[in-house]
Amino acid sequence: MKIRYPFIILAAALMAACSTNAAPPTPTFTPLEQIGQGVYALRCAQCHALTPDTVVIGPSLAGVATRAASRVPGLDAQAYIEESILTPKAYLVEGFPDTMPTNFAKELTSEEFQGIVAYLLTLK
Ligand code: HEC
Repeated sequence: MKIRYPFIILAAALMAACSTNAAPPTPTFTPLEQIGQGVYALRCAQCHALTPDTVVIGPSLAGVATRAASRVPGLDAQAYIEESILTPKAYLVEGFPDTMPTNFAKELTSEEFQGIVAYLLTLK
């Protein structure tokens, strides 16, 4: 596929021109959270929505940072989220199949892993 650079440049210029004034407030993510957002889009979005109560294959991750704090006694939100990604079978969300991939510990770099955890912790 041929990429149309002139068009993209024009579109970018127009967007920049339009965004000077009434840009809606966008959530500001730290660089680590931005890495995590990218990891989510590539590796998690096919099974997890970000809109509440929307089931793709796995549960929606909307509000996961809040839920995570009380899922498993003794695990705080960060520990639960880390465990959910590294060993998904350790705790299964009720009503969902045991189909979350178990190879993320190998697949993700440590930066990607820290990023996705940081990103999910923003979803309060
Ligand atoms: C093939 C589908 C699939 C993919 C891909 C997937 N998951 Fe999951 N995930 C699930 C399912 C199904 C569950 C529910 C069963 C369980 O608890 O393991 C789940 C559960 C979870 C939970 C627990 C949610 C809660 O409310 O307690 C978290 C957190 C999570 N996944 C994060 C991720 C992240 C982060 C990624 C990407 C790095 C990912 N998942 C990729 C299917 C998937």
